[in-house]
Amino acid sequence: MSSEQQNAGKIATARLGGANGPEVGVQGLGCMGMSFAYGPTDADEARATLERALELGVTLYDTADVYGAGENEKFIAPFVAAHRDEITLATKFSLSLDSSDPAKRSIRNDRPYVRQCVEDSLRRLGVDEIDLYYMHRRDVSVPIEETAASMAELVQEGKVRQLGLSEVTAQELRAAHAVHPIAALQSEWSLFSRDIENNVVGAARELGVTVVPYSPLGRGFLTGSFTDAEKELTADDFRRHQPRYHGANAAANAALLEPVRRIADAHGATPGQIALAWVQQRSRVWDGLTVVPIPGTRKRSRVEENTAATRIELSADELELLEPVAGRVTGDRYADMSFSSAGRE
Ligand SMILES: NC(=O)c1ccc[n+]([C@@H]2O[C@H](COP(=O)([O-])OP(=O)(O)OC[C@H]3O[C@@H](n4cnc5c(N)ncnc54)[C@H](OP(=O)(O)O)[C@@H]3O)[C@@H](O)[C@H]2O)c1
Repeated sequence: MSSEQQNAGKIATARLGGANGPEVGVQGLGCMGMSFAYGPTDADEARATLERALELGVTLYDTADVYGAGENEKFIAPFVAAHRDEITLATKFSLSLDSSDPAKRSIRNDRPYVRQCVEDSLRRLGVDEIDLYYMHRRDVSVPIEETAASMAELVQEGKVRQLGLSEVTAQELRAAHAVHPIAALQSEWSLFSRDIENNVVGAARELGVTVVPYSPLGRGFLTGSFTDAEKELTADDFRRHQPRYHGANAAANAALLEPVRRIADAHGATPGQIALAWVQQRSRVWDGLTVVPIPGTRKRSRVEENTAATRIELSADELELLEPVAGRVTGDRYADMSFSSAGRE
């Protein structure tokens, strides 16, 4: 089969972290929900989803050590082994949950912890090297330069290929980048969550850092598949604890989807596809920025729907209609926002 035939039907590609970085599909796959946070999973369907995504040109696969306390890394390991050279594997360190109280989380960025975490992730993932290693959350008691230096050691030792940061400020991104090039910034970015546009997106563009928007579907809310998390989702679903997805906030926020639905109808698309097209198109609004969203799904049909959204172009009028949406959202992204970069800017 020629490479043209092989590429037929696949999504476009982009370079992760600049011209010398790996080429990845312009949409990645968030694997978190396959083991963690979003209720019961059909493991066979989730495995089939990993494969289907790859067939469609998705090559950036995102996990973290905290997702199911290592279970998510273990879950994707056989897929990674089968396709090691075809994919870009991203995982993260720094966050851990208390098994007796899931609301309690701890954050560590110190060198001994970084070194311990990378060994644990390498073992669970069954690889010699992690392609993209992120600091998941910032522990403000450790200077960011120190953490970046600890992470840079891992690159020098061949344990990690590229570095990433999640939920950091523009200043933190710049300081870390001065220690070692940062390939990717992973932060929440969607029609409902645009705080990062205030500062860090501009810094990422200037430094050539790829932005990897997480929760680009607003954790599913933007697809219209649920409205009130407390009433509609299972007791163990993390979204029940997110203020914007329950009670009066959820009802008010659901009403904000009206223009999204209207635009979706005009394109013969779904609201979720419009949400994904919007975030993908930030690369044009922020001319020169590389954007690789990582919507999460455990279902083949949805990965097909989501990747198709990379081909939808929104007009200037449509973008304008969507412009006020984020400013009208009620309720925070998390119940405890103390970790977020917003408070440190
Ligand atoms: N760095 C960080 O702090 C951080 C935080 C959160 C997440 N992440 C990463 O980002 C990835 C994506 O974020 P996310 O999973 O939180 O949120 P998301 O991608 O905005 O939404 C995922 C949710 O939407 C549903 N969904 C996906 N496609 C759909 C479609 N076409 N129609 C209807 N529903 C659909 C999924 O359900 P099904 O699975 O049932 O399809 C899931 O419940 C995660 O997997 C994780 O890797 C990183």
